[in-house]
Order: sequence, then C-alpha cells, then structure tokens
Amino acid sequence: MSGLIYLDNAATTFPKPRSVTEAVRECMINKGGNPGRGSHTLSRSAAELVYDTREAAAELFDASAENVVFTLNATNALNLAIKGLARAGCHILIDNYSHNAVYRPVVALAKAGVCTFDIYDASGRVDDILSDISKKLRNNTTIIVATHQSNICSRVLPISEIGRYAKKRGIHFIVDGSQSAGHIKISVKDMHITSLCLPGHKGLFGPMGVGLLVSGEGVKYRTVIEGGAGVSSLDAHMPDDLPERLEAGTLPLPAIAGLRAGIRYIREIGEDNIHAYEKMLTSIVEREVASLERVKTYGSCGGSVVSFNVDGYTPSQVGEYFSSMGICVRTGYHCAPIAHKTVGSFDYGSVRAGVSYLNRPSDMYALLYALRQLNSQIVK
Ligand code: ALA
Repeated sequence: MSGLIYLDNAATTFPKPRSVTEAVRECMINKGGNPGRGSHTLSRSAAELVYDTREAAAELFDASAENVVFTLNATNALNLAIKGLARAGCHILIDNYSHNAVYRPVVALAKAGVCTFDIYDASGRVDDILSDISKKLRNNTTIIVATHQSNICSRVLPISEIGRYAKKRGIHFIVDGSQSAGHIKISVKDMHITSLCLPGHKGLFGPMGVGLLVSGEGVKYRTVIEGGAGVSSLDAHMPDDLPERLEAGTLPLPAIAGLRAGIRYIREIGEDNIHAYEKMLTSIVEREVASLERVKTYGSCGGSVVSFNVDGYTPSQVGEYFSSMGICVRTGYHCAPIAHKTVGSFDYGSVRAGVSYLNRPSDMYALLYALRQLNSQIVK
C-alpha cells in the first residue's frame, strides 16, 4: 500500500481486497470479448462473467438476476431510476439527507416542468418521519426517494418502514444505497424497494466505473439513454425487458469482474460483521472527541462515517494538516448541501472520516493524535 492512512472510504474504498485487483487483472488478460455482442468463445465467456455477477448481486440484494442492471456509478443509476419512473405532472418526495445525485436530477425535472418535489424530514424517529411524509404527500406523489445511510454522518433511515408505507400507496420507492451497500444488509424484496441504486467502488470494494440499479419485480422504466443492447438489433427502440432496456452500449467488463470479487468478499464476511467492526472503529474517535473542547461532531454516530469540525480552522485547513501527517480524509460539502443543513454544518461543510473493513484501530488512533494536536494548539 501507499504508507498513507486512508480514511476517505465514503468517497471510494481503498485499498481493495487482493481478490478484486486479481480479478480485474485476470479479466484484462483472459476475457477479451465484448459481452453479449458475439457468439465466439471470448464474447461468450465475457457474457458468462456478466451473468454470474448479476446473479451474485441478485443474491446479495435479494432480487432477481434479470433485474440487476449495470450502470456507470450510483449517480448514473439514480438518474436512470428517477427520470425513468417520473411521469409528466408527478410529485416526488426526497429526504433531508439527500446527496446531489438525488437532488439535482429532481431539480432538473422540476425545472423542465416535468414534476414538482418536496423534501421530507428524516431526522427524527420512524413515526415522525412517516408523519412528515404523510403531511407532504399529494394525490400525484408517485416517487419517494430515501438515502439509506447519509454520506456525511452515520444516520441510517428506516428503509423497511418507508418502503412499506410507499408500497401500501402504490408509490415507487427509490433507495440511494451509496453508503450502505456492503455495510448494511439490504433486501430489495423485504424492504419493498422499487429501485436500489448504488456504486460498485465503495462498500462493495469493486473498481470505479461500475454501479448497480437493482429493481423489484415488474418495474417499467422509461429509457434515458438509448443505443445498442446486443439484442433486438432490428428494432428502432430499446428492448422492453430488463436488464437490456437500461444497458445501452458496451459494459465495463474489467470493473464487473472486480465487482464480482468484491461481492464475494462481502458475502464471505457478512454485512453484520462488517457493520459491527466499522462501528467499533468509528466509536474509537467518537468516544474520545467528546472530551476535545474545540472539536464538534455532526449528525448520528455508530456507523462507517464521522463528520466533524475543529473550532478555529476551516475544514480544508484541517484536511491539509491531516494530509501533511499522511492521513486522507474528505473536506467540504461532500456533494450533500441538504444534509449539511440538516445536521447544522452548512456554513463550511465538515471534515469527514469514512472507514472500511480494511481499516485498523491504529488508523483511528492516528486520526485522534492529529485531532488532539489541533485541539490543543493553533497549527499554521
Ligand atoms: N459521493 C461521494 C462522497 O460522499 C463521492 O464522497
């Protein structure tokens, strides 16, 4: 590894398990064909790898393999889901931890006159959240979006309950699983999820360049991107069925090979063990910073992310200081201004430390050491 202490795993996990990097390498050496675009040996074996990865993702998220669509990343998946399910004149509800990957597509639809939207308060208990959703619900509400775990704190939304609420009313339920997939167990079926959107390169330990849109049964999307799908080539329109309907163009095979290895790694350890371990790591920092009078944390604790500020420094000054000590964290707004408003860090954003299963307690002690230095002196 680099010798650095990497605590920016909420942006992308690093390092990856060795099985992931080996799978990418093996794919680039031995799997040269374009999947689903030919009947020769290399194309077929590429297609098998793709199908096998669909099955692995379907098992992990409790869905059917044909409902697993490969996307570029979570943002791409969220755009396909939100714009693919929105209909003229509809109303959309999003939560107050939403990332710009949710907020901006919804704002763009509203600006184009396609829909209106409201933001529900998801910071309270389940009953309060459902009550706020009820207050904001309209006759034309057809989509509720929920951030499973916030990317700026460890707030986890009650997905099952919101899903049940949406299902009862025939409303599509889109979940942003960017910070939860691979960290917390997700069942598309049991949580009544219409569209689960997630990146491959974060909690699932895959490479950058692949994400997933995992759908429930019978979901009908309007297409946002059209092109070759490897089937029904004589038709002027995209195939009706998933996954091909939403998979225009060549798939990122090496990234998919890495993602399959990442999913296998997660299944071997289990999300419950991963969650417990990450909670242990972040609690090392959370416990201790309570006694540092200049350090303020934001939002919920007990997950894979800790957000904080140090009085007297901007987040980027803190980040630069950490970087000079070989510690990598993310600073600023983390593309989630709404969430910063919710937790009270809107003025400057925050410093964010995000852990993965591959961090060690010593990484957290190094962060604490740096924080104590800042807490006790002005470091220029
Ligand atoms: N959305 C990613 C993050 O939270 C990149 O850092």
